[in-house]
Amino acid sequence: MDIKNHITHKIDMEVHENVDLKKYNTMQIPATGAFLAVCHTVDGIQEAIEFARRIGRPWMLLGGGSNVIFTCDFVDAVLIKLSEAFEYINFSDSGSLIVGAATDLPLVVDFAIGHNIAGFVPFWGIPGTLGGAIAGNAGADEAAMGDVLKQVTVLDSSLMIQHIDKDNILRKYRSCELAETIILEARCKATTHEGSEVQEKLHDVRRNRALQPRMGREPSAGCIFKNPDGDYAGRLIDAAGLKAKSIGGAKVSEIHANFIVNTGDATPEDVVKLIEFVRDCVEERFAVQLEPEVKFFGMDKAGQKVG
Ligand code: EPU
Repeated sequence: MDIKNHITHKIDMEVHENVDLKKYNTMQIPATGAFLAVCHTVDGIQEAIEFARRIGRPWMLLGGGSNVIFTCDFVDAVLIKLSEAFEYINFSDSGSLIVGAATDLPLVVDFAIGHNIAGFVPFWGIPGTLGGAIAGNAGADEAAMGDVLKQVTVLDSSLMIQHIDKDNILRKYRSCELAETIILEARCKATTHEGSEVQEKLHDVRRNRALQPRMGREPSAGCIFKNPDGDYAGRLIDAAGLKAKSIGGAKVSEIHANFIVNTGDATPEDVVKLIEFVRDCVEERFAVQLEPEVKFFGMDKAGQKVG
């Protein structure tokens, strides 16, 4: 079915000016966005991008904000957000799960667990939207989002709707080729398992997540760095003695060293400085260059889009 027919709304999109971005990033970093375009339809996304071009600003797509670091106090861009019209979970006639890109990943995971679909269990406790999780090929342990996909519907760089089969998506550790597109919807595997098997897997995953800072109490953007080949970023940062190291309101978590937490009043500058400090210390100590897993949103000194 044509996505333009099942995602409909009275208005296509609405633009808000000077928006407080604190609630749009799970680290709760304060920043102001020049424009926030909330898009209710596919036409609305196209309009938002045209609006950005018309006013000469870059555009950036915001998902659940769980992998996002704002690097400056004022983001002079058009931030595009898919509205609740893109939040849905349905079974297709052939038994796949059809999920809108703006749907909360935890909701998808709960839905899957409720239907004894074990494939989503490894993603329990990972915040963000389904679209963001696919774009970043989010995962845990050996599992990644790509494992549960069948097909993804996107708006490509020419703003055309494309349906891309999972075999045509080159999936890598914590990245995927679709990152350059706007993900609209995914068709996912819905293979069911014995309830006891699903619960057993869930038990293990929940035990692992208890070794990470709690999103509600210690706001963070999840893991900051990708794991380098054959090692773990968290292990290296810990071994460099950086647990609890803080700059302003940003602190390396005492629970898991690959998390930076906002102790209450962290600024974009605090977070960026701490990430650079950690990266430099690990490189100096172990000659390993850590690569960020998070996405930076902001402007560089020349006013160019970063992100
Ligand atoms: N470790 C330390 N000190 C720490 C943290 C970890 O020594 O402070 C050691 C652990 O003891 C372990 C190793 O580092 O031997 C790996 O730690 P862990 O099992 O916590 O896994 P991870 O590789 O750090 C990955 C994902 C997490 C995901 C967990 C699920 C990456 C970068 N991280 O963490 O994903 O939740 O597995 O177990 O791939 C995220 O992507 O945002 C994220 C949090």
